[in-house]
Amino acid sequence: MEPGRVVGFLWVIGMVLSLAGGGGAAAAEKGVTYDGRSLIIDGQRKLLFSGSIHYPRSTPQMWPSLIAKAKAGGVDVIETYVFWNLHEPKPGQYDFSGRNDLVKFIKEVQSQGLYLCLRIGPFIEAEWNYGGFPFWLRDIPGIVYRTDNEPFKFYMQNFTTKIVDLMKSEGLYASQGGPIILSQIENEYGNVEEAFREQGAAYVRWAGKMAVGLQTGVPWIMCKQPDAPDPVINTCNGMRCGETFTGPNSPDKPKMWTENWPSFFQVFGGEPYIRSAEDIAFHVALFVAKNGSYVNYYMYHGGTNFGRTTSSYFITGYYDQSPLDEYGLLRQPKYGHLKELHLAIKSVAEPLLQGKQTFLSLGSLQEGYVFEDATSGCVAFLVNNNAKAATVTFRNNAYQLRPKSIGILQNCATMIFETARVNVAKNIRATTRVQLFDAEDKWTTVTESVPRFSDTSFRANALLEHTNMTKDTTDYLWYTTRFDSKSACMNPVLHIESLGHVVHAFVNNVRAGSGHGSRDIKVVKMDVPIQLTSGPNYISILSAMVGLPDSGPFLEKKSFGPTKVQVDCSGTMKYDLTRSKWGYQVGLVGEKARMQDKNKVNKAKSLKWNKNGVVLKNQPLTWYKQTTFGTPKGDDPVVLNLTTMGKGEVWVNGQSIGRYWVSFLTPSGHPSQALYHIPRAFLKEGGNLLVMFEEEGGDPLGISLNTVSVIGPNQQRSPSQFVR
Ligand SMILES: *[C@@H]1O[C@H](CO)[C@@H](O)[C@H](O)[C@H]1NC(C)=O
Ligand SMILES: *[C@@H]1O[C@H](CO)[C@@H](O)[C@H](O)[C@H]1NC(C)=O
Ligand SMILES: *[C@@H]1O[C@H](CO)[C@@H](O)[C@H](O)[C@H]1NC(C)=O
Ligand SMILES: *[C@@H]1O[C@H](CO)[C@@H](O)[C@H](O)[C@H]1NC(C)=O
Repeated sequence: MEPGRVVGFLWVIGMVLSLAGGGGAAAAEKGVTYDGRSLIIDGQRKLLFSGSIHYPRSTPQMWPSLIAKAKAGGVDVIETYVFWNLHEPKPGQYDFSGRNDLVKFIKEVQSQGLYLCLRIGPFIEAEWNYGGFPFWLRDIPGIVYRTDNEPFKFYMQNFTTKIVDLMKSEGLYASQGGPIILSQIENEYGNVEEAFREQGAAYVRWAGKMAVGLQTGVPWIMCKQPDAPDPVINTCNGMRCGETFTGPNSPDKPKMWTENWPSFFQVFGGEPYIRSAEDIAFHVALFVAKNGSYVNYYMYHGGTNFGRTTSSYFITGYYDQSPLDEYGLLRQPKYGHLKELHLAIKSVAEPLLQGKQTFLSLGSLQEGYVFEDATSGCVAFLVNNNAKAATVTFRNNAYQLRPKSIGILQNCATMIFETARVNVAKNIRATTRVQLFDAEDKWTTVTESVPRFSDTSFRANALLEHTNMTKDTTDYLWYTTRFDSKSACMNPVLHIESLGHVVHAFVNNVRAGSGHGSRDIKVVKMDVPIQLTSGPNYISILSAMVGLPDSGPFLEKKSFGPTKVQVDCSGTMKYDLTRSKWGYQVGLVGEKARMQDKNKVNKAKSLKWNKNGVVLKNQPLTWYKQTTFGTPKGDDPVVLNLTTMGKGEVWVNGQSIGRYWVSFLTPSGHPSQALYHIPRAFLKEGGNLLVMFEEEGGDPLGISLNTVSVIGPNQQRSPSQFVR
């Protein structure tokens, strides 16, 4: 079908839907509507479990098995964001190749018989660089993001339309027979709306109208948006939506949970967040007992933030504690317990969706929710909110409930599932070392030279804002100045303040010290004793970012990089260099030369791989290369253990597997992330090319290649093994 005809067809569907007023199961034959109980797909009410899997956080080779495991886990819908900054790296230039192949991902979901929820945003937050915005947006004159601002609305509408048109042209909306049953516009805007005053509410209305006007034939949602304009459905995000959600803003809209966090994101310097299978199951059952009919796990599979795609301070692995771990292995008992929950709830879907709900108190901390009607039968949810076990009496039968647990009663009589009773055994992840990289003669290295003021061509009498200089083409910006120490400066101390994220200071070519902020403490303050010579002294500062921010209002105004540089001497004497003449170098020489490539573009003559195999341990600003590592046999996921390094980025066969930062320890003294995933699709037979750039100093002889497996259940049991 040519696109024009598709649009016409959808327009007719849209008319039918709007005449039906979004209600009534008798609406369109094909497509999606809703009522106050649930989504209605092809005329039928649906109770849906959904799992977030983000296509660019794994590889196309991994997609089929991730989706198959989600399906086997009782998931009906795959939820994904759309990543604007991947798809439109330059205005009007689009990329849908490789990991960015959104259409291929959706078609894989379709071929496995699942539905898809497309969260277009196009602001997505998602712990993703700049919340998904392409950085070029910042240079659009007069732009203010996410408010009633014409330039912003133009680009938002332009990209949203591009995606919707792409989906239509591929026939992917449910109204066309495709898998997409929902789309999302904006994302958790309710968190920032107040900052924009009346313009915020006007923007929400505009966004809803714009989206609905695109005539997809399926409903739109806005999460954390109590004022979502009709017919857009407001949905809940959080860990306890059965308790926290104020509900849909109209009785004609279903109660939906778009983000149930089975864990939480992790930052460098932070510990992993562990949430138990029992706790997740309790809150899912509670939400369903309180009329919820859609629950999505954010994330079902987190994956890997390859390259420089994380936002500020987030680690490279994403939601590793999800039902599927970073590599796609089952995390038990979480995966299996939720699978049993889904099966149990699905087995009572009829009375849940068709029955009338009644509530009863069963004790001071116990309650019951019953769904019942003459034709579809009866189901009861018995809730024990107490931290102690309880016995409750319901319809003349006594039921034992574990502490903080919900029992599901088929036919209002037989307990088929209890959220605090876990039947699935825990599994443990194990690494097997395949190769050490301890042979000195296999490494080649080269160290970046510290640029001096005299090397720079771009200069200013100020410390310029970091990201305005780099345009996010690199994490790195050099600031360099020269000053004459005229009179005797005793015990000089270099004082640097920066808005983030990392500074490495060099005085007369020698590393003087480093400092960094964290997700909680944004401002970097550093005082390091230095040595000065009489006459000219050279101060060079390498400012580094660990991803652009992804949240909060006025992202377009955020500033980074050094704001104050001064040399303090004993007594009151000091040199304030903040307004000195600074020279700038954007990025590293090795980045421009593309050291990670096999046939690097050798424009930068000054950076040649050192061939004699001298390994430079604990050497800052050093590139490392190794060409001899083989691909481990089998299918187990492959990781690099980088514990002995410091901070930097790592590439395999030219592809970045992400930033590493093992020197930023957690409060318990461990790296937040020691293992870095190399998808098998990045590897090839024979010698693989490994390149690392190390900022602070590390020991490449201590790193190792490992495979990962689980000990204990990693198999999906067949449904017949479950209590029904
Ligand atoms: C989006 O903007 C580009 C110019 O940047 C224009 O060529 C294109 O037609 C626009 N698309 C839509 C759907 O408005
Ligand atoms: C669930 O829906 C029923 C029927 O619409 C309503 O009476 C009841 O108050 C709702 N319960 C909750 C907890 O939202
Ligand atoms: C960014 O840099 C340009 C050119 O150097 C300058 O005109 C502009 O004021 C800077 N903007 C910000 C926000 O710093
Ligand atoms: C990673 O390597 C370090 C240093 O050799 C070692 O102590 C640690 O046990 C390794 N971690 C894993 C998970 O293999």
